[in-house]
Formats: sequence, structure tokens, C-alpha cells
Amino acid sequence: ARIPDLPADVTAREVKSVGVIGLGVMGRGIVMAIAAAGIPVVAVGLDDEHVAKAMGAIEKMWGSTVKKGRMSQEQLDRQLALITRSTNVADLGSVDLVIEAVTEDLATKEKVFAELGKATRPGTILASNTSFLNIEKLADASGRAEDVCGMHFFNPANVMRLLENVRAERTDPAVVATIMDFGKRIGKLSVLSGVCDGFIVNRMLSKRSREGFFLVEEGAAPSVVDKAVSGFGFPMGPFALGDLAGLDVQAAARKSRAASASPRELRADFVEQMVAQGNLGQKTGSGWYTYDENRKASHN
Ligand code: 3HC
Repeated sequence: ARIPDLPADVTAREVKSVGVIGLGVMGRGIVMAIAAAGIPVVAVGLDDEHVAKAMGAIEKMWGSTVKKGRMSQEQLDRQLALITRSTNVADLGSVDLVIEAVTEDLATKEKVFAELGKATRPGTILASNTSFLNIEKLADASGRAEDVCGMHFFNPANVMRLLENVRAERTDPAVVATIMDFGKRIGKLSVLSGVCDGFIVNRMLSKRSREGFFLVEEGAAPSVVDKAVSGFGFPMGPFALGDLAGLDVQAAARKSRAASASPRELRADFVEQMVAQGNLGQKTGSGWYTYDENRKASHN
């Protein structure tokens, strides 16, 4: 079966400290989720500038939670103190679990997994936050396939409860048990998936987006589609969600599925057009909607 069962009779290992490599929108949210659970985390970014930018964003988000009276300043300070800033993969040498959240591009991730395979101890779990790339290839690149798995968080990763853990062909059952247990420890609802297109959630959501694009092609306003779907119980419609996840990420996912896409899907290339214009969604302040600095949306 592609969607595997939970391994029986294996004990989860202890995870005392974690590393996150890649501090974009997803990496930052993952760092926040781990530190908020009281677990030390080494946050590795590309260079000092990226690390400073990510930490600034984290402090701002937690700062606003404090302002809303939902967290104390002491708690914020405690959480910040759990985060070690770094630009060096070698600093991941003593962690028990590394979560990779670099750019969603196979060659980039393969390079990172090759580095992680050398920089970490055997037995250190190497998890990718990829949403559609083939984890088997990352396992090959690492040279330690038994330690490699997926941990797919949802944006915003510090808020969304769901966590899709992915068991690849060669993942050690103890690794699967450990990440399922770890998900629970950081307050997530862990589900287990196999390596397949879009895992469980994005496989469903991509079809919802597809129909959204067709509706727009037929003349519907994106905001009306979003409103209709939100009225049906989803927290966000497909267009607002595309802006949140990043239209560049959505375009890359569409590209990875292009071989099996219908001519109509390929023709409804709104996302590609927006990316070409530099409109990537919330992160650039403009996508299907326009955003102010507090992520408040207005129609384009
Ligand atoms: N980034 C970080 N934090 C955010 C955020 C963002 N873009 N938007 C909201 N938040 C935080 C707020 O700061 C607040 O935190 P606090 O309680 O600590 O102060 C908390 O989320 C709740 O925010 P709001 O009070 O503004 O509440 P809303 O009711 O508007 O909820 C939402 C915002 C949680 C984003 C909600 O709209 C939601 O659940 N949306 C659906 C998101 C979703 O489906 N994500 C999955 C995307 S698919 C994906 O990620 C896959 C990947 O592979 C591409």
C-alpha cells in the first residue's frame, strides 16, 4: 500500500533537540512550533541576513501574540532563548532530528540532504517538509535512507494543527514511531502518509484549486469563490490559501504535475502569470488579493 500503516511494536526514540534548516515562511513557523513546545531548536539559515530576517519575523509574530494578551513576555523570552541561530550545517551535529524546509526544488534539497548525511550522526532523523517532491530521492542523496522521512507542516506552521508524516520505502519503523510521537509532543495532530503526489491534503486541495481556476476562467470573481467555500466551512477559500502558501510554491507544484494535467488545467495558467509579474501572494503583498503589512487583504 502507498499509504502505510503505523509500525507496530516499535518504541519512539527520545528527541531532546531539533534543527531546522531553511528559514523561509515554513521554516520560521516550524521553529516557532518547536520552541513553543519547550524544545531547543537550532535554526539554520542561508546567511546572517536571512537568519536576522527570520528571527525578526518570529519576534514580531510572538510580540503581537503578547500584545493580544495571549502570551506573557516571560514566555516569549523563554521561547526565544530556546532558539540557537546558525548559518552552519555543522551546528546540527548533536541534534536528534533535523527538519529541512529549504526552497521547494529537488536539486537544492538533494544538495542539503547530502550535506546533512555527512554533518549529522547516523540515527539522526532527517525529515523534509516538502509538499510534493520525491522523498525517495532525498533519501538517496543523504546516503542514510533509513533515517529519512517527511514531516509536512501546513502554513502557518505555528498555528495549523495538522502534520503529515511521510514514511518512505526505506524509512526505519523506529523513525516513523518517533516522528508520530514528536508531532504529538509539539501539539500537532499527526497523520501518516506514504510517498505519493501531494500526500493526502495537497492532493485534495489541488483539485479544489483546479476547479477554482476553471470557475475564474468561466467568469467568477476569485473572492466570490473564496466566500462560497468559506461559507461551506473551510477556514479559507482556494485563492486566499494560494496567496498564503505562496503562488510560486503553487506554480512549482503545478509544474511537477504537468505531465498528468489536462489541457484545460494547463491553459488555466493564472498562477504562472502572476508569478511572472512578481505577485507571489502574502509574501510580496500582492496576489489574488492585496495585503497591508498586517496581512489584511483587500481585493485587487
Ligand atoms: N503567518 C503566521 N501566523 C499567522 C498567519 C500567517 N500568515 N495568519 C495568522 N496567523 C496567526 C495569528 O498571528 C494568530 O496567532 P496568535 O493566536 O498567536 O496571536 C493566529 O494565527 C490566529 O490568527 P487570527 O486570529 O488572525 O485568526 P484567523 O481566524 O484569521 O486564522 C488562519 C488564520 C489560521 C491562517 C486561518 O485562516 C486558517 O486556518 N486558514 C487555513 C490555512 C490552511 O489551510 N493552511 C494550509 C495551507 S496548504 C500548505 O501549507 C501546504 C504547503 O505544502 C504549501
